[in-house]
Amino acid sequence: MSGPRRVAVLGSTGSIGTQALDVVRAAPDRLRVSALGAMRSVRLLAEQAAQVRPEAVAIGEERLARELEGLVPRGTEVLAGPGALEELAGSGAADVVLNAVVGFAGLPVTVAALRAGRRLALANKESLVAGAPVVQAARKTPGAEIVPVDSEHCAIHQCIGATSSARAGDGRPLPPPSVRRLVVTASGGPFRGRTRRELASVTVEEALAHPTWKMGPKITIDSSTLMNKGLEVIEAHELFGVELDRVEVVVHPQSVVHSMVEWRDGATVAQLSLPDMRLPIGYALSWPERLDVPFGTIDWSKLSRLEFSMPDLETFSCLRLAYDAGRAGGCAPAWLNAANEVAVAAFLEGRIGWLAIADVVAEVLEEIEQTTLLEVDDVLAADAAARRSAEKAVGRRDGP
Ligand SMILES: NC(=O)c1ccc[n+]([C@@H]2O[C@H](COP(=O)([O-])OP(=O)(O)OC[C@H]3O[C@@H](n4cnc5c(N)ncnc54)[C@H](OP(=O)(O)O)[C@@H]3O)[C@@H](O)[C@H]2O)c1
Repeated sequence: MSGPRRVAVLGSTGSIGTQALDVVRAAPDRLRVSALGAMRSVRLLAEQAAQVRPEAVAIGEERLARELEGLVPRGTEVLAGPGALEELAGSGAADVVLNAVVGFAGLPVTVAALRAGRRLALANKESLVAGAPVVQAARKTPGAEIVPVDSEHCAIHQCIGATSSARAGDGRPLPPPSVRRLVVTASGGPFRGRTRRELASVTVEEALAHPTWKMGPKITIDSSTLMNKGLEVIEAHELFGVELDRVEVVVHPQSVVHSMVEWRDGATVAQLSLPDMRLPIGYALSWPERLDVPFGTIDWSKLSRLEFSMPDLETFSCLRLAYDAGRAGGCAPAWLNAANEVAVAAFLEGRIGWLAIADVVAEVLEEIEQTTLLEVDDVLAADAAARRSAEKAVGRRDGP
């Protein structure tokens, strides 16, 4: 690599974004932040800009533009408004775009980075799940590539890359036909082993108390319902081109084995490290090279066991619903994602109980109007229709 790689961190004020800045700080000879973006955390964004001195910053809420201009170092370009992060993603401001925006709102960043022929370090799984046909088309742009940040997909990327020499045109490792299945691990979240009855009255605080990962609120709730794993199954299918039914989930509470690839000859290759997102972030930013800075190194004198079990699809029905939506294809994953985002927001606001998250998603999936997703506008329309349906489903049961 000649000179540090220029990185745009979009969603810089969140859990992944702030850890990405740690990674860049730890490897200044390899990485440099050239752009930052967030939605509304204007003070934190300005603090970050003062520390890393990017060329440009973007804030999604237009009314905060003036305040941000007054806070960032002189000479920093400020972009503001609903299209600001997307504009940065598609500009020449960076060699690598890290999409650390939460939820469906990350779709424009994903598409803009790929259409501009950039490396996309993808944390925002929702954009790939909901907009797969559009994202896959954008991925064919010369120079465009996705390197996954999600720890499971990063693990699979490493397992395939380490074991097979098959490469796509853009250099990414390709799963050859000798892959029998991808095994995605799940911590099981805070409610692993509980029954539906026990889960009827869980609180927001309990659902936010993840046993192994410290993450933003939306993905933490998704981890408690196993919808996060469902989205990841679809994400793995889209990223690696392995059929959905050859992507399996296994519960592994220690979160040390981040996922596995099983080959037809019976061998299973796994990637292990302690749960620390800075490792996959650093991997995605620097691939095909690796950083010299260790994150998540295992102390074998302390790690005494690794356990595995099958997920309980009756209690954690969001995982089953995600498989259903993935098999249905078309716009079903977009409906699944939108319904889930509405239901999770309603749960966090205390409007519905935890069990109702899956019920809302199930009801919305019954109402899918299949449409073809060719353009971003088609995905936005499917998302909007699903949200309307989900709001009605929430409204029918307002009150936890
Ligand atoms: N956290 C993890 O360990 C982890 C692991 C694997 C994958 N992921 C994925 O990474 C993504 C980010 O997760 P997170 O946990 O880091 O989320 P988070 O802590 O909630 O941070 C979200 C970031 O997105 C920005 N944002 C929120 N709404 C936005 C909008 N409408 N438009 C543009 N930016 C917006 C926020 O800016 P403000 O602060 O200004 O609101 C913040 O910078 C998610 O897709 C998640 O599934 C996260």
